[in-house]
Amino acid sequence: MTKIAVIGLGAMGAALAREQLKGGHSVTVWNRTPAKAEPFVAKGATLAATAAEAARVAQIALICVDTYASAEAALGEVWQPDGLAGRIVVQLGTGSPSEARHFAEKVEVAGGQALDGAIMCYPDSVGPNSEELIMIGGPEPAFRAAETALRLLTGNLQYLGDNIAAPATLDTAMLSISIPLYAGIAYAARLCEAEGVAVSDLARLDSHGPAVMNRLEVIAADAFPLGSLHDGGSLAVWTDVAEGLARHARELGINSEIPDFMAELYRRAVDAGHGPEDVTALVKLLRDI
Ligand SMILES: NC(=O)c1ccc[n+]([C@@H]2O[C@H](COP(=O)([O-])OP(=O)(O)OC[C@H]3O[C@@H](n4cnc5c(N)ncnc54)[C@H](OP(=O)(O)O)[C@@H]3O)[C@@H](O)[C@H]2O)c1
Repeated sequence: MTKIAVIGLGAMGAALAREQLKGGHSVTVWNRTPAKAEPFVAKGATLAATAAEAARVAQIALICVDTYASAEAALGEVWQPDGLAGRIVVQLGTGSPSEARHFAEKVEVAGGQALDGAIMCYPDSVGPNSEELIMIGGPEPAFRAAETALRLLTGNLQYLGDNIAAPATLDTAMLSISIPLYAGIAYAARLCEAEGVAVSDLARLDSHGPAVMNRLEVIAADAFPLGSLHDGGSLAVWTDVAEGLARHARELGINSEIPDFMAELYRRAVDAGHGPEDVTALVKLLRDI
């Protein structure tokens, strides 16, 4: 039985704790708001008083809070020499490649081994039989030691080698495809509307697959759900993503014209009042011009 800590019991952290308990591990949990730990304590988990205590009692700590900065602050007492000696810390929140590198360096200075992961699914899909992608990067010995626990989270675990920033890089790259794709869908629909061709025909005949078809159908029906169609994020959430991609491009020193343009377009749609709706509501901005 491996001693696992789960630090952060929000929607995703709760799914991680659920699967570690089901997998028969000894699980210690910590959450900023302790009430969220109660269902896990009822199922046999131990509640730690602090995040640092949780990380120290475990062999492997899975961290899943909102940002890397929150995780770093919450783990306060471990950031000293030997504060994490012999521990493996797996950061499973969403962050940038540079945040992944920075966090891993902190873990190593504290005597631990760091892995970094990107979870590409919703909490309900987490589980050993899931086909959803979870990517892990970091030193291979640490990955092998954590592999059994990590394989409880998905049947599609991809180890990307010792580049700690590889999962965050690929996550960022995939989002860099999604952001212009949604803008392209909105523009294609607007073009059909202006030419008097049914957007439903574009949805029916386009060959890009279900992700595009489903969004074209929303525009064709002119009924934009609040929140999100599929992706766990409203237009406002995707605008934050677009702005993050533009910042990342500038930080990296690469040409940022595409993410800058996208971020501005998305922001204008939010400023026009469409932020709470599905990302397909981008088309409403194009209808106004
Ligand atoms: N949900 C998804 O579909 C999904 C998919 C892939 C990746 N992720 C990533 O997983 C991470 C967690 O997402 P989530 O969906 O679990 O979010 P969530 O439900 O909003 O939960 C956020 C978690 O972060 C904690 N937190 C926030 N600020 C904190 C602080 N300053 N110090 C300590 N803890 C803090 C919260 O604690 P409290 O309970 O005290 O507020 C809670 O445990 C994010 O990085 C997200 O991008 C989520």
